[in-house]
Amino acid sequence: MIDDYFPQGLAFGKAFLGRETEKLWLSQNIKQRHHTVLVAPRRFGKTSLVLNVLSEQKIPFCELNFHLIVSAKSVEKKIIDGVLNIMNQFVSTPEYKLKVIRSFFTRAKKKWTIGFRDIIGLELIPDENSNSADNIYTALMLLDELLGKKKARLFFLLMKFKNYQKSKKVFK
Ligand SMILES: Nc1ncnc2c1ncn2[C@@H]1O[C@H](COP(=O)(O)OP(=O)(O)OP(=O)(O)O)[C@@H](O)[C@H]1O
Ligand SMILES: [Mg+2]
Repeated sequence: MIDDYFPQGLAFGKAFLGRETEKLWLSQNIKQRHHTVLVAPRRFGKTSLVLNVLSEQKIPFCELNFHLIVSAKSVEKKIIDGVLNIMNQFVSTPEYKLKVIRSFFTRAKKKWTIGFRDIIGLELIPDENSNSADNIYTALMLLDELLGKKKARLFFLLMKFKNYQKSKKVFK
């Protein structure tokens, strides 16, 4: 196979050059469980840097891309779907997943609807008039409970997030 040193997409393997200091700094932040905000102009190599570190350290991660997301409800949906997606990585049987979800919501005294999207795909729908911040917190607590039981850790990669209030002003 010919090595592609100039991929059009993300840089991995031999195509990923340098960034030693940034890799070390990001790895240390992850080890110490510090949040990291990466800010750089377009096409600077932000995504390649993060994904290379995560793959070298074999850290499971969830990628949430907020490009074109413009409302609190759509952020909420993105995060809830992301949480369900990650659950699939850690739970092999749909029955166990359903059991964890049901027991969490019973104890949390929340009335969310559990839907079935396809044979094993679940959908979680919060009450219609509920608050998005509250719902995001609930979804993250559900994940926290599952990961705690499995003694697992996970990296959340939030991409292209922006200040929604500010964007609203720009697009007025
Ligand atoms: N360390 C690196 N060594 C060589 N090429 C790289 C490196 N990092 C990124 N590139 C190349 O630069 C380009 C942009 O990389 P990447 O998509 O990671 O940047 P980004 O900052 O996430 O971009 P965007 O702003 O579009 O999200 C890609 O073509 C990628 O292959
Ligand atoms: Mg990127």
